[in-house]
Amino acid sequence: MGKPHVFITRRILEAGLKMINQSCDMEIWPENFPPTPQELKEKVQGMQGILCMLSDRMDGELMDWAGEGLKVISTYAVGVDNIDVAKATRRGIAVGNTPGVLTDATADLAFGLLLAAARRISEADRMVRGGQWKTWEPTTLLGADVHGATLGIVGFGRIGQAIARRAHGFDMRVLYCAHGHAPKELPADSKAEEVNFDTLLQESDFISLHVPLTAETRRLMNKEAFDKMKPSAILVNTARGGVVDQQALAEALSSGKLAGAALDVTDPEPIPTDSPLLKLENVIIAPHIGSASTRTRERMAVMAAENLLAGLRGERLPYCVNPQVYG
Ligand code: DGY
Repeated sequence: MGKPHVFITRRILEAGLKMINQSCDMEIWPENFPPTPQELKEKVQGMQGILCMLSDRMDGELMDWAGEGLKVISTYAVGVDNIDVAKATRRGIAVGNTPGVLTDATADLAFGLLLAAARRISEADRMVRGGQWKTWEPTTLLGADVHGATLGIVGFGRIGQAIARRAHGFDMRVLYCAHGHAPKELPADSKAEEVNFDTLLQESDFISLHVPLTAETRRLMNKEAFDKMKPSAILVNTARGGVVDQQALAEALSSGKLAGAALDVTDPEPIPTDSPLLKLENVIIAPHIGSASTRTRERMAVMAAENLLAGLRGERLPYCVNPQVYG
């Protein structure tokens, strides 16, 4: 029997590719831009395994194009909102992701965005580069204190808890609302207080989102939510762009109902260049780099390869999203 055929939708870090190359006939999408849905359909035909990115839609139709031989979809991400997991399960396709390994990198970035928005670091950098730094001035770029402020965390899974630990180091009061993503076991010394969503919106100086994108969380942060927040509050999103109603956010920010936002994720990605959010000084936008540290991406590559290879061997995936597939 020949080697299994696998399609990898973008070039991931070498550590993972090396593992896959040893036992598979692998094809890697060679371009800088991801394959279009049509290109993806053509590429997956006859594949036993697919290693995809969070930007690739893996729906039932695509699975059908791959054919009956498709055993495993391994995503190079922890989030699986781009994959129709229920349809994969029905077709007997195992789905794997990369949980845990990117928790700290993502929490680091979320806290970095929070600090940058509070202390207006991007605006300061733009001002200096624009030749506007003429003298020291008592009221230039006054921002918000982070220490002693209240942080509201929406979703208290691994990443939510990791940002709480960082916030405690800054003497922040930490509130959280699990929104279906509660800790299995709260560490005994956790100082975070569980509150309902409305209380979190009303009392937080900073709100950081850490829920997956589901039917329940889509547009969770909408006009109604922004109306309940303090006008001095800052929103940080490193989860998924779809959790926020971007139009309502732009309106809240430009009308002074909200002080600032720092987003690592948008809907769609990339954000259209004519988005009103890009015209606002009080918004920071990063291009979805939450897990983008070399060590984290290397570990994700290895986990994604481990999932892919286990699925091809017919073994249980080490990081399986749909264990129901094993009956
Ligand atoms: C994920 O893994 O879901 C992040 O959004 C990107 O690494």
